[in-house]
Amino acid sequence: MPLRTLDSLGSLAGKRVIVRVDFNVPLKEGVITDDGRIRAALPTLNHLLNSGARVIACSHLGRPDGTPDAKYSLQPVAQRLSELLGSPVAFARDTVGESAQGASAALDDGEIAVIENLRFEPGETAKDDAERRAFAQKLADLGDALVSDGFGVVHRKQASVYELADLLPSAAGLLIEKEVDVLDRLTENPERPYTVVLGGSKVSDKLGVIEHLLPRADKILVGGGMLFTFLAAQGHPVGRSLLEADLIDTVRGYIETAHERGVELILPVDAVMASGFAAGADHVVARSDALEDTPFGADGMGLDIGPTSAEIFADAIRSSKTVFWNGPMGVFEMPAFAAGTRTIAAALTHVDGLSVVGGGDSAAAVRQLGFTDDQFGHISTGGGASLEFLEGKKLPGLEILGWQ
Ligand code: 3PG
Repeated sequence: MPLRTLDSLGSLAGKRVIVRVDFNVPLKEGVITDDGRIRAALPTLNHLLNSGARVIACSHLGRPDGTPDAKYSLQPVAQRLSELLGSPVAFARDTVGESAQGASAALDDGEIAVIENLRFEPGETAKDDAERRAFAQKLADLGDALVSDGFGVVHRKQASVYELADLLPSAAGLLIEKEVDVLDRLTENPERPYTVVLGGSKVSDKLGVIEHLLPRADKILVGGGMLFTFLAAQGHPVGRSLLEADLIDTVRGYIETAHERGVELILPVDAVMASGFAAGADHVVARSDALEDTPFGADGMGLDIGPTSAEIFADAIRSSKTVFWNGPMGVFEMPAFAAGTRTIAAALTHVDGLSVVGGGDSAAAVRQLGFTDDQFGHISTGGGASLEFLEGKKLPGLEILGWQ
């Protein structure tokens, strides 16, 4: 079944519309370092405001455990939103209390308020269904309808994502519609060759997606910290590189399955080995089967894929018709270890077909390395959500909007 979309809500002029967005943006000392998720919410917010709706935007930020915590306040986000919209944004200092009720009541047609972090309230993330529902009812009292547009959080069964959509007339916003449309193209008949590039630090975060994609992709390229568990599974010593020793057998199984199914599982042939985890650490390129044959010996630490691997990966990417990439290839935040991630990002911009960047870290990486969103087919706002979608899991926040 398709998603219920905005038109299913009828005319929204004069109605109080709660919009559940994902404003979970990275902050450094109160300053937003990547506003991609706020920008991604703009089409829906502008559409509603131009339709004369009275918009109450709500989101989580970070993981405060059900109590207010100033460092997770949405106030800086409300300010940034106001700059991006070019109009005032009211800010409520609580989530469902007097301030939020007052802000909702004070809205005129075409005006917007942001309420404080949903996760300042224990009911938002409560395990108990009744507790979540009771909190969702308080949220529902702030509006007449819900537009759910926080794609990054649709894999969470939380009050504002799930129960609220059941209590009010609800529909998906334009961002969720677009995310589902693109990610669905990756799962249903992707144009081939279909290449999946996986990086990031942990294999354990990617187990489900690797299992699900092994029979579907033509090529799987593995970089990032997780590559060292793959190299260890092939019997190569990896020094002090990141290693999930308990997953070596699982990974060995993946390598065998890929071989049996004719999927090209491409592992780096070289890596950048460093003397330690520091921006200024000494570093050299080493072959994957000789990672400890460097001046650092068994103390060396792999912090990026090597240049030959980056070129092999880039060739595979450029010759594909569909590419999904999740997870940086190295410690891109440190310039000395950013080259692998940069080469992969550049290759994605040359795909003659659909290129999708998924996940908060990869999205932040491409922007930090100077790429712009329009150079890629799609940059997903969902990290865990996009991976779980590709794993074929049922996502509560989409199911409650009619998606099956
Ligand atoms: C994300 O950053 O992936 C989403 O905002 C979800 O956040 P969460 O993992 O804290 O639920």
